[in-house]
Amino acid sequence: MDWGMKNRLSKIIKPKDGHTVMLAVDHGYFMGPTTGLENLGAMVNPLLRYADTLMLTRGALRNYIAPEVDIPIVLRVSGGTSIVGKELLHEGTVVSIEDAIRLNASGVAYSILVGAEFERDTLLGMTQYIDEAERYGIPVLAVTAVGRDMVKDAKYLSLASRMAAELGATIVKTYFCPGFEKVVDSCPVPIVIAGGKKTPEKEALQMAYDAIQAGAIGVDMGRNIFQSENPVGMMKAVQVIVHKKATAKEAFDIFNEKK
Ligand code: 5RP
Repeated sequence: MDWGMKNRLSKIIKPKDGHTVMLAVDHGYFMGPTTGLENLGAMVNPLLRYADTLMLTRGALRNYIAPEVDIPIVLRVSGGTSIVGKELLHEGTVVSIEDAIRLNASGVAYSILVGAEFERDTLLGMTQYIDEAERYGIPVLAVTAVGRDMVKDAKYLSLASRMAAELGATIVKTYFCPGFEKVVDSCPVPIVIAGGKKTPEKEALQMAYDAIQAGAIGVDMGRNIFQSENPVGMMKAVQVIVHKKATAKEAFDIFNEKK
């Protein structure tokens, strides 16, 4: 791995403990004005001091985040479909590697859909992007997207995560599931978990804790933070689970402080 790649990776994954809290607010690229992100800047800017990395689209970055803000960016570079279209997860490349570099991205995120009709297109799209990103030393986060009808179990998520790693992804983002150790143990690159749909805060924190215990290096969480009644409290709570070895209960107590 070259110096530039290592340097960018160290901005995404904190070298002091090998963990990361990624704040995911890229939802608008297929969901439009998602609840909580109608004014993305107002929601996200107060949360940044508790995040290690911000994952978002180039449009959100340019319009809602000031260039002076000191937060490493993981730029979403796949997309092209919507929640109201017929082919939700048939994504392709929507940002060139040059624009990712121009925006000073520390990493890029590309979704793949294993086991669905457009599997091959998304896998080839990601691998082509990995070839370009590696030319410039930019890590690629593979997002193992899951279709509505697909089961998020350890067998399927292991398959998708391992494939993403074998195809060259630097980090894999997937969903938590029972038996998550199997997903982590069979994937040779670091894994972060998505939060998924909004659930009660206590449950979301338990999931983050269980994922870290199972070997995930962190979270790339969105709705369970920005749709919480207390987004700052959730960021603080997730932060102590990921970086301070806090239990889910200790984290929930932090969430409840000064609600
Ligand atoms: C969509 C994404 C989202 O960033 C991801 O789902 C994380 O957000 P959430 O915690 O809300 O699930 O990558 O493909």
